[in-house]
Amino acid sequence: MKLFLTKNPKKHKTDPHYKQAKRENYRARSAYKLLEINKRFNLFKRAFYILDLGSTPGSWLQVARKIAEENLEKYNDGYYHRDHFKILGIDVKAISPIEDVKTLRMDFTLPEFRDEIWNYFGKKVDIILSDASIKKSGIQFSDDINQIKLCYKVLEIVDLFLKIKGSLVIKAFQGSDFNKFFSDMKKEFKYVKSYKPKSSRKDSNEIYLVGIKKLW
Ligand SMILES: C[S@@+](CC[C@H](N)C(=O)[O-])C[C@H]1O[C@@H](n2cnc3c(N)ncnc32)[C@H](O)[C@@H]1O
Repeated sequence: MKLFLTKNPKKHKTDPHYKQAKRENYRARSAYKLLEINKRFNLFKRAFYILDLGSTPGSWLQVARKIAEENLEKYNDGYYHRDHFKILGIDVKAISPIEDVKTLRMDFTLPEFRDEIWNYFGKKVDIILSDASIKKSGIQFSDDINQIKLCYKVLEIVDLFLKIKGSLVIKAFQGSDFNKFFSDMKKEFKYVKSYKPKSSRKDSNEIYLVGIKKLW
């Protein structure tokens, strides 16, 4: 299976997460970021309806699918439970098919996407994931601002489609406007935590914000 690489292929070949992803059939090493985040915050507890924004090549979708499938067995009790899962992934780039996962090639900031979400799930979702990244220009100041702008677009989708008590994982860049975004997220969730997974490169200013228990 082809594993997706970024700029420096040499660096990847010696990277333990790259090798692990190859061994475990994940499409990208980013899978381990989500697995680490979930281990730390247990976000996928009773998650059956999952929306993933910025999905290509699809390793977060692979992780989400695996956990959602396990949840069908694990939470087969009298509490909140479903007998099926639904996962929707979207990216402007193509996503190779994943069994039982719906994917769309589309810009998620477009209003038409909202109809797609509603038509597919028919109700609000349990968890929203966004590993979406802007295309970096190399000018860090504007890249940081543009990433946070994208995060606000994600928050609009969260407002409309995440159920009360649902969770969000979102990638931000630590830079201009980060603190404001962090405070705005706190208005939406009971708890907001920032987390840098060990599998996230130390030389990158990416950080994940985790929103737990959506308020309204
Ligand atoms: C880091 S990659 C995601 C990796 C993915 N989580 C995985 O594990 O395979 C970020 C993705 O966000 C996508 N993206 C950024 N802005 C987007 C937008 N407005 N609509 C759809 N996709 C977007 C990019 O095309 C890119 O593929």
